[in-house]
Amino acid sequence: MRQPEVFTAIRRCAWLLVALLVSWGTAGAAAVERGAVASASPAATAVGLAILRDGGNAADAAVAMALALAVVMPQAGNLGGGGFAVTRFASEVRTLDFRETAPAAATRDMYLDGQGEPRPGASLVGPLAAGVPGSPAGLHALHEALGRRPWAAVVAPAIALARDGFTVDARLAQDIGRAADLLGRFPETAALWLPDGRPPAVGTRMRLPALAATLAAYAAQGPAAITAGPIAAAIERAAQRHGGVLRASDLAAYRPVWRAPVRFAAFGWEVASMPLPSSGGIILGQTCGLLGRRSWATHPIGGVERRHLLVEAWRRAFADRVLLGDPATTGADAADLLAEGWLARRAAEIDPVRATPSAEVATWSPAAAAESRETTHLSVIDGDGHAVALTTTLNGSFGCGLAVPEAGFLLNNEMDDFATAPGRPNLYGLIQGEANAVGPGKRMLSSMSPTIAWRGEEVIAVGSPGGSRIPTATLQVLLALIVDGATPAEAVARPRVHHQWRPDVLYAEPEALSPAVAEGLARRGHAIQPVDSLGEVQLVRRLADGTLEAAADPRHPGAAEILQAGGGR
Ligand code: DON
Repeated sequence: MRQPEVFTAIRRCAWLLVALLVSWGTAGAAAVERGAVASASPAATAVGLAILRDGGNAADAAVAMALALAVVMPQAGNLGGGGFAVTRFASEVRTLDFRETAPAAATRDMYLDGQGEPRPGASLVGPLAAGVPGSPAGLHALHEALGRRPWAAVVAPAIALARDGFTVDARLAQDIGRAADLLGRFPETAALWLPDGRPPAVGTRMRLPALAATLAAYAAQGPAAITAGPIAAAIERAAQRHGGVLRASDLAAYRPVWRAPVRFAAFGWEVASMPLPSSGGIILGQTCGLLGRRSWATHPIGGVERRHLLVEAWRRAFADRVLLGDPATTGADAADLLAEGWLARRAAEIDPVRATPSAEVATWSPAAAAESRETTHLSVIDGDGHAVALTTTLNGSFGCGLAVPEAGFLLNNEMDDFATAPGRPNLYGLIQGEANAVGPGKRMLSSMSPTIAWRGEEVIAVGSPGGSRIPTATLQVLLALIVDGATPAEAVARPRVHHQWRPDVLYAEPEALSPAVAEGLARRGHAIQPVDSLGEVQLVRRLADGTLEAAADPRHPGAAEILQAGGGR
């Protein structure tokens, strides 16, 4: 070999060595990624990432993100509402119920007139529609049980957003515009969210000093800063001014509850989701139970058989939802509806080539469904593989529309999730039963489905907003991952369908059904109705080698991020 050739060979070897070291380093980094977060807001996702970077775990990040959403996403993020979280730390799975409760003065017929007819809007607009907020005590309880950063450090990013301001994005400007009538009914709310009588323009810097002060007190004193003292008194005054029955004593009496999850096996995975007072976990468990019994996974992806079986399973799960309510009252529970005998009976009812009319599954009158635009879900996994799936809501977009000026936040309209008028549909077209009648101190039935699934070292945390569409959107994404091996980005992007027993309609996003599949389903007796969008799923996943992945639903402007070992994204 001549001298120049020797040098070339040495140089090549050196490059090879560098390349080997780089690829080894990258593989090593993948195994020690420090976290993955997904939420409906880029600002909240950035907060979650910063908390993880500062040594926080999945619970710290989830609570900090929920509080950030309470500032930048007033449609859904909240201190005046409630929610649910499913956590998996090491192998311990728990669920936290911080669902609102009915105020002590609530009565069964509070939304009916003298003739027993529903009073229009009574369970949706103004503080009579508000349940007792669960978020202040709930988020604190989640941090207290599982967080490792100081409480004040977890609240700090939300204080900064409210105090220093954040930029109004297109989604917020548009949603305020859509809700302008509701927000304009209450001068307290209009002063905050309709400055100069108009929705703020995209790009406006929004500062919320009252909310910043509330959050600072919350950081210093915990939930009592909101559920007792001057802020609780202000909430009572605001409720009284506008005909509500919510009292400071209701706030003081509120307690979140840790509950055992609904657990079931599905397609080789273990799944844990929300138990009552959410119907979400039960609907997921029943649906998977029926699909497994009808060999769903053996049929082609997106084909007529899969769609038909999924709809027939949902039809039955949602029919059984009528039996559900607060577990503190009597009624069916997960044990009844996930029992082997019941699943086998429901699975056997499914006709493989004909849609069962919903009227034959149970007898209730039909209703129209709508998707209100807010509730919000966030998912986090930290570098130790601890996971949190958290869904929180005011129910309708901007809740009942009333913001309490001294507190700086909106109250929910979650009371509409009760069966407020017998046999009548709620905001989501859901017809509900006796077990979900209004009662003092009761928790209203939910569909929220924060869910964690795992198989060995692999972990998925997932969930969605969308009212009655929550369990169906969540399940379709989960099935795409665990049955079809889709990537997170593919799984959240796949077009979705929905059925909820009543109305007897198969809702389909554009592209969800090919013309041939739509025709095949129509031939089986399904009434197909197009809808723009179903749910907004936020997803994180840990692979067996420790690699972390995250995906935000492309239907809306959310954000998903990975925190790399060196602290970068
Ligand atoms: O708890 C429930 O099921 C409803 N209050 C959730 C509302 C909801 O998802 C609104 N979002 N799009």
